[in-house]
Amino acid sequence: MIFPRSFSLVIGIFICFTTFAYGATLPPDEVEALKEIGKTLGKTDWNFSMGADPCSGEAGGWITTNLPEGSENTVTCNCSFVNNTVCHIIRIALKSQDLPGMLPSELVRLPHLQDIDLTRNYLNGTIPPEWGSMKLVNISLLGNRLTGPIPKEFGNMRTLATLTVEFNQLSGPIPKELGSLPLLEKLHLTSNNFTGELPETLAKLTTLKNLRIGDNHFIGQIPNFFQNWVNLETLVIQASGLDGPIPLGISLLTKLSDLRISDLNGSQATFPPLNNLTSLNTLILRSCNIIGPIPDYLGTMTNLTKYLDLSFNKLSGNIPSNFVSLSSVQKIYLTGNLLSGPVPSWMLGSRKNIDLSYNNFSESQSCQQGNTNLFRSSSKGNTSGIVSCLGSYHCERNLSSFHINCGGEEVRPDGNTVYEADQNLGAPSNFIQSPTNWGFSGTGNFLDNDNRDSYITSLSGLSMKNSELYVNARLSPISLTYYGFCLVNGIYNVNLHFAEIMFNDGKNYSSLGRRIFNIYIQGELVQKDFNIEDEAGGIGKAIIKNYTANVTDGTLEIRFYWAGKGTTGIPVRGVYGPLISAISVNNPDFVPPPEHKKRISGGVVVGIVVAVAIAFVIILLLVIVCRRGFLNRKGTLEQDLRGLDLQTGSFTLRQIKAATNNFDDANKIGEGGFGPVYKGLLSDGTVIAVKKLSSKSKQGNREFVNEIGMISALQHPHLVKLYGCCIEGNQLLLVYEYMENNSLARALFAKLDEEESTHMSTRIAGTYGYMAPEYAMRGHLTDKTDVYSFGIVALEIVSGRSNHSYRTKEYCLYLLDWALVLKEKGNLMELVDPKLGSACNKIEVAVMINVALLCANTSPAVRPAMSSVVSMLESRTVPIVPDPVASDEQMNLKGVMIELQKSLETNTSDVHIQSTSTDGPYTASSASVGDLYPLNWDSKILENR
Ligand SMILES: *[C@@H]1O[C@H](CO)[C@@H](O)[C@H](O)[C@H]1NC(C)=O
Ligand SMILES: *[C@@H]1O[C@H](CO)[C@@H](O)[C@H](O)[C@H]1NC(C)=O
Ligand SMILES: *[C@@H]1O[C@H](CO)[C@@H](O)[C@H](O)[C@H]1NC(C)=O
Ligand SMILES: *[C@@H]1O[C@H](CO)[C@@H](O)[C@H](O)[C@H]1NC(C)=O
Ligand SMILES: *[C@@H]1O[C@H](CO)[C@@H](O)[C@H](O)[C@H]1NC(C)=O
Repeated sequence: MIFPRSFSLVIGIFICFTTFAYGATLPPDEVEALKEIGKTLGKTDWNFSMGADPCSGEAGGWITTNLPEGSENTVTCNCSFVNNTVCHIIRIALKSQDLPGMLPSELVRLPHLQDIDLTRNYLNGTIPPEWGSMKLVNISLLGNRLTGPIPKEFGNMRTLATLTVEFNQLSGPIPKELGSLPLLEKLHLTSNNFTGELPETLAKLTTLKNLRIGDNHFIGQIPNFFQNWVNLETLVIQASGLDGPIPLGISLLTKLSDLRISDLNGSQATFPPLNNLTSLNTLILRSCNIIGPIPDYLGTMTNLTKYLDLSFNKLSGNIPSNFVSLSSVQKIYLTGNLLSGPVPSWMLGSRKNIDLSYNNFSESQSCQQGNTNLFRSSSKGNTSGIVSCLGSYHCERNLSSFHINCGGEEVRPDGNTVYEADQNLGAPSNFIQSPTNWGFSGTGNFLDNDNRDSYITSLSGLSMKNSELYVNARLSPISLTYYGFCLVNGIYNVNLHFAEIMFNDGKNYSSLGRRIFNIYIQGELVQKDFNIEDEAGGIGKAIIKNYTANVTDGTLEIRFYWAGKGTTGIPVRGVYGPLISAISVNNPDFVPPPEHKKRISGGVVVGIVVAVAIAFVIILLLVIVCRRGFLNRKGTLEQDLRGLDLQTGSFTLRQIKAATNNFDDANKIGEGGFGPVYKGLLSDGTVIAVKKLSSKSKQGNREFVNEIGMISALQHPHLVKLYGCCIEGNQLLLVYEYMENNSLARALFAKLDEEESTHMSTRIAGTYGYMAPEYAMRGHLTDKTDVYSFGIVALEIVSGRSNHSYRTKEYCLYLLDWALVLKEKGNLMELVDPKLGSACNKIEVAVMINVALLCANTSPAVRPAMSSVVSMLESRTVPIVPDPVASDEQMNLKGVMIELQKSLETNTSDVHIQSTSTDGPYTASSASVGDLYPLNWDSKILENR
C-alpha cells in the first residue's frame, strides 16, 4: 500500500524515536502488512496509533505476559539487521484468542517471518496458497474452523519443520508435494476430513520425528513406506481410516518412544515385530485386530514405563511371566482380549493402574480376591451371558426399572422417579456396584491429561427441562459400561440422556470440539459415531435417545465406546470420550405387585460386599459368640444353600479332594466349632486352606452364602484372600489363601497385640462389608469404614438379627435405625436377642451395644480405633459421644416397631440401661450392679496370647 509521503515520514520519525533504545526500526511496509494481517484475523487490540511500534515489546502491548497456559499474545522482532538498525518480524503467536477472522494471505509481506502460531482461535476460510512462497519454519493452525485442502504450494516451503493443522475441517487428499519438504520434523493432521491414500512421495520425509494422522478418512492400508521414517519418535494413527495390519517394516522405526495405533479396520494379524523398538515408553495398540499371544520381549523393554495399552484385540494365551519387569509401568490395559491362564500375582490385588477385565482368566481368579481389575462381563455372546462377578448375586427381588443420574447426585426430576446418585469414582478399571440393581465399569485414562475426573459438572447454567439430569455427566476415556441386574425379563425401554456440557466454557473455539463415540446395547452397536451436539442441535441442549432392549437373563448392558474419532484437544488437551448424563430404563409391560418396600434413610447400605475372607472371620466371631452363649439360633444352612447357584469361584469337590489328598488327616490344620480346616495344594502350585463347614453347622445363612458370590469392587490390604468355594451335596467348602499359622483362630489370637487386633477387626468388618455412609458417597475404603462395619456386625450379634431382616409389609427397617430409636427412648436393652435369656451379662451387653453404636457413628472421625474398641470392651468404659439423633422419620416408626415387636416375638425385657458418666460403668436402672456378672467377655481368648 502506498502512503502519502509526508504521512509515512511522520510514522518513520516516530518509529525512529520510540525504538531509539534499539536504534532499529521496523520497515513501514511490515507495519502496514501487520495492520492488514490484524484486520483479516480479527485482531482488534493491536495498537497502531501514532508512534506505536510493533517491535517495542511488552510496553507497546505487542507481547502480553502472564497469560494462562496455552494462551499467547506475541509479536517477536529481530532487530539485528543492517548493523542493528533494522527490525523484522520473525514470529507471531496468537493462541487461544478466539480470533474470528480468516488466515491472512498478507503474511507474505513479512519476509522474515519464521513462525506463525494461531492455535485455538475461531478462524475460518482456507489456508492461503500464497504462504507457499514464504520461508516459514513452524506453522500451527490447531483448533480452528479451516476448510479446504493443504495447498500444494506448501511443497515449496523448503524451510518448513512443523506443520500442525489438527482439529479443523480440512479436506481433500494430502498433496504429494509435501514429500519434498527436506526438513519436516512434525506433521500433525489429526481430526480433519482428509481423504484418499497417503501419497508415496511422503516416503521421502526421512527427517520426520513426529506424525499424527488420526480421525481422518484416509483409505488404503498403512503403507509400507512408513519404514523409511527411521527418525520417527512419535507416531499416532488413531481411527485414521487406514486399514491394518500394521506393516512389518515398523520394526525398523527403532527410535519410536511413543507409538499409538488404534481402531484399525482390515484383516487380523499377529503382534507386530517391535523387538527392536527398545526406546518405547508409551505403546498403544488398541482395537487393531491383533491375534495370537503377547510377545515375551515386551517384558524386556526397560524404557516401557508410561503406558501399555493392548486393549480390545483378540490376544490370547497367558500373560508372559517376564511381565513382572513391567510392574513399574504407570498404566497397563489388557482389557477386552481373550487372555487366559493364571494372572501373575503382582498384577492382582490393589493395583489400580492395571486393567485385565473382559478376558478369559479363570472365573475364580476374576471374581474372587477383590480383583475387580479382572472383572469380566458378559459382553453378550461371550460365555455366561450375565455379569460374571455378579454370577451368584442373589436377587432379593427382581425389578423392572432403574434410573441413574450419571456422574451426579440423587435427583427426582418429576418429583417422583428417583434417579440414583452415581458419584463413585473407583479406579478406571473397577466395577462399581450401586446399592440397588445397577453398576458400571469403565476403562482408560485421559491421555495427556491424567488428572481429568471420570465425571464432570457443567460450568455454565443449563436451561433445558430437567436440567438437574444434565449438569453432571459421567465421562470415560475409552469404554464405559453400565449394567442393570436383577431385572424382570422382558422388553425394556432404554432412554439415554445426553447433553454436551464440555464445549461451552465461554470461548467460541470451545464449540469446535467434536465428541464422537459408539453406543452398544446388549452387545449390539445401536449408534455409530454418535455426536451429542449434532443430534441435540447445539451445545448445552438435551437429546434423549430411545432404544428397546430384550432382557432375557435379568441383566442389561449399555456400553459407550470411544473409537478414536473426534477432537482430543478442544478446548484443552484430553477432552474426548463418551459422555452420558442420565440413564432411565423401564419395562412398560411389567405390572408391579401390590406391596412396596420403603427403605429407611439410615445410611446403611448393604450392597457391595467384600470379596474376601468372608467366611472365616464371621465364623470365628460366631464361634466366639456361640461359646459365650450369645447366640443360639437354629440355622437352615442346607436349605439356604441348596437353592443357590453359586457360579463364581467354584471349585469342584474332586479338585479339593485332590488338593487335600481326600481330606487326609495329615493335612488337617485345625478344627473349629464350624468344622475342620485342611491344608491343600492345587495343581497350579497354590497352597490353600480349605474349610469344611459341617452340614450341622449353625452359622450359615442365606446372606452369608450370597455374599461369597457378591464379589465387589472393594480391595483392602488387610483382607485374607478367599479363592472360592465348593458346594456339592450339602457340603460347603471354603477355599482360602493359606496362612502360615496352623489354625485360623491361632493365626488371629496367637499374638493379639494391638496391631493384630486391628487386623482382626478390619477383617471382621471388611468381611461383612457393611458400607459406611461416607463410602456409599465416595468410593473410599478406610480403616474407619471397617470400624463402621464392625459396629453393625456387633449389633447383629447382640440382637441375633441380621441388619436388614426387620421387615414388615411396608418397611424394611435397618438394625442401626432401630437401635438409634431405642437409645433415644432409653430402651436400648430391647435390642438384645431375647433367646439369650440369663446367659447374658447385662453390663457386657450394654457396653457392647454402646461400643457398637460408637463404631457405627455416621462421622468417621468419631469412630474409635479398633485398639480402643478392645480396651473399651476390656475396661467396660465407653466415652459418651452424642449418637446421631434419631431422625423424625425414624421416630415416627413407632407403629412399625410395634408390629416388629410382635413379629420378633419378644419377651419384653424390663431392663433399661443408661449411660451416666463419661468414664464410669454403666448402671442398670432396674437391675443392680451386684446382680451382674463379672466381665469375662473376651478374657479367655486374650489369655491365649
Ligand atoms: C556495519 O558496521 C561495520 C563496522 O561497524 C561496517 O564495517 C560495515 O560496513 C557496516 N555494514 C553495513 C551494511 O552498514
Ligand atoms: C466465516 O465465518 C463467518 C461467521 O463467523 C461467516 O460470516 C463467513 O461467511 C465465513 N467465511 C467463510 C469463508 O466461510
Ligand atoms: C468429508 O468429506 C466427504 C467427502 O469428501 C464429505 O462427504 C463429508 O461431508 C465431509 N465431512 C465433513 C464433516 O466435512
Ligand atoms: C532387531 O535387530 C537385530 C540386530 O540389528 C536384527 O538381527 C533383528 O533381525 C532385528 N529384529 C527385527 C524384528 O527386525
Ligand atoms: C531409555 O530412556 C532413557 C531416558 O529417557 C534414555 O536415556 C535411553 O537412551 C533410553 N533407552 C533406549 C534403549 O532407548
